[in-house]
Parts: sequence; C-alpha cells; structure tokens
Amino acid sequence: MNTPDGNPALIQIIRDQIENHGPQSFAWFMQQALYHPEHGYYSSGRCQIGRKGDYFTNVSVGPLFGQLLASQFSEIWERLGKLSDFVIVEQGVHDGQFAQDVLEFVQTRLPEFFEALRYRILEPFPILKEQQRRKLEAFGDKVEWRESPEPFTGVHFSNELLDAMPVRLISDGTEKLVGLDGDTFVFVERQVDKTMFNQAALDCVDRIAANLQRGYFIAIDYGFLDEQFERNVQVRAQHRHLDSPFEQIGEADITIALDWRSVIQRAQANGLRVAGFTDQHHFLTGIISQFETGDRGQSLLADSPKAKRELQTLLHPEMLGRAFQVLALAKKVDVEGPPLAGFKFARHQGLSR
Ligand SMILES: C[S@@+](CC[C@H](N)C(=O)[O-])C[C@H]1O[C@@H](n2cnc3c(N)ncnc32)[C@H](O)[C@@H]1O
Repeated sequence: MNTPDGNPALIQIIRDQIENHGPQSFAWFMQQALYHPEHGYYSSGRCQIGRKGDYFTNVSVGPLFGQLLASQFSEIWERLGKLSDFVIVEQGVHDGQFAQDVLEFVQTRLPEFFEALRYRILEPFPILKEQQRRKLEAFGDKVEWRESPEPFTGVHFSNELLDAMPVRLISDGTEKLVGLDGDTFVFVERQVDKTMFNQAALDCVDRIAANLQRGYFIAIDYGFLDEQFERNVQVRAQHRHLDSPFEQIGEADITIALDWRSVIQRAQANGLRVAGFTDQHHFLTGIISQFETGDRGQSLLADSPKAKRELQTLLHPEMLGRAFQVLALAKKVDVEGPPLAGFKFARHQGLSR
C-alpha cells in the first residue's frame, strides 16, 4: 500500500471523486495527475525536462535532434513539390525547445524552405503557451498557436506525446481501477468486455488524420509492436523511477508504453498509410547518411564534440537509440517509392502499408 503524497489539493479532488462515485479508471486518474487544469503535472507548468528536471527527452539532449528532424522535414517539403505553404504542426511542445531548434536550423541552412514554412503549435495549456511564446518570439508570425487541429498540408510531428496520454489498464478482460482503502489509493479490479484502453491516443489519431490534407504524421514514442505488449506504468520524478503512480501525485510524470499496432490500425482505418516504422537508432542514422555528407553542405557533426556527444546519446542502443520508435503515416503521398531518409535502413516489420 502507498500513502498518497504530492499535491494535497489534487489528492483531495481525486479522493472526493472516488468517495462519491466509486473507483475510477486509471485513465481518469492519469488525466487528473497530469492534466487537471489547475494542479496537473503538465498543465500547471510544474514539469521540468532535462538535467535539472525530472527526466530527459530527445529534445533535452541538445539541438541536434531538432536539426536532424528539420532535415527530414525539408525532404518531405521537397517530395510534396516545394509547396509555398507548408505547415509543420507540433503537438506536445512543452517549452518550445524543439520548435526553436528546427526553426533556427531551417532559417540559417535552408532559407528556401524557411520561406515556405509555417510552424503551428497545438497547445491546450495557457501556461505552456506563454513559455513557448517567449522562447519563439524571434520568429514572429512564422509561429502560430491553435487549441485544436485545423486542416493543413505538411507534417504533424510529436515526440513523446502519445505515451503521455491517459490509458485504461485492461488486460485479459480485467481492468485495474483506482480505489480507496481508508486514506490510501489502491488498485481494485473489475471484469470488463471492452478492449479500447487507449482512447485518448486513438482520438488524437482521428483528429490528426481528419485534418491532414496531404503529407505525413510522424510520431516518436516508446512502445511495442508485438503481441507481448504489456502496459507498464512508468512514473518519473527528479530522474528517479518511482514505484507507484500514487507517489508524488501531480509532481511526477506518468507514461505508458504505447501500443503501436492500435495506433497504426486506427490511422489506416482513417485512410492513412504506413510510410515507415523503425527504431530511433535506424531513423536518425538514415537521416545522417543522407544529409550529413550530402549536397547541402549541412554537416552538423564536423568539428563539434558537443554535437558528437549528443549524437551518441540519441543513437546508442543503451541510451535513447532503442528506447524509442518512429512511425510515419502518410496521406496522398506515394508510399511505394523510395522511403524517406529516416526509413532507408528500416528493417521490414511485417506491417502492411
Ligand atoms: C513527455 S512530454 C514531451 C515534451 C516534448 N515533446 C519533449 O520531447 O521534450 C509530453 C507533452 O505532451 C503534452 N500534451 C499531452 N497531451 C496533449 C494534447 N492533447 N495536446 C497537446 N499537448 C499535449 C504535455 O503537456 C507535455 O508537454
């Protein structure tokens, strides 16, 4: 048993709900812990990412990640015929660091692409929007904010968004709910016949698919494709893994390994096609091999020990290289031809397009 700690007001809200309405789904609990409008870990602005924060992401490793993705986005822009109104939509933006890394790189290295580009941020939380506005001020009206998606042609990108969306904990017909034993939050089980456990992520896929007119939806997350998929709840604070989601409620990050197959099936049902799936190691290696020595004079790594260290962290199988996978889905784009740079070393995963 775990005595709840964390944000007292949030704990009281969760306790009241359970006392008044009985045990609640883990998805509801996760929604409160991360996204309660006032007290949630993300929505309150409490979350810190990077060395001084609670955990690292690809973005917090340094600018190289955004620079490599910018190269991939520019290839997509070229493939779509160098449109004059190409939109990068980013969701799960946190403080805007990835957007800054991409825009600075494109502005200095790929001016023609910069000219054609608009950067759209989907941000539901005002406090994060404010942080992003400050960070991206220099780019003026290149950057725009929306609370919900609107039709666009280009690419929708997210890093660790889908695995941060609330899930129900259902396995073999049994659902784990969050209940109370005295003062303590506990899991209680009930039988269920539904299997739709990651509704929020699937709703998100529906919305992206409905608004993507032509182009790609690229998501980087950690998860599983195969049948041995297990729903591990990971709780992190100050670079420590906590034992239970009932510790440091509202002050810790909660993620669940993503079931990639359900995301793919949902996207396909919406008319998208798989344009590539691979681990981050192979994805970034493909981009580097195409652009680092390519004809654009874009070398990011030469003479920069810092960039080389960043690269090692992003690529190394025991660091971030194997932890994350990359999925690209496409609409009104030829997916039978040569793959995007990031997928040229992707091994066949038995996925139908
Ligand atoms: C694990 S963090 C990743 C942040 C950043 N992409 C990075 O890699 O450093 C997840 C982010 O997704 C955001 N998020 C969760 N649900 C969202 C939604 N429906 N729309 C937009 N952002 C969302 C959270 O606020 C949080 O900033």
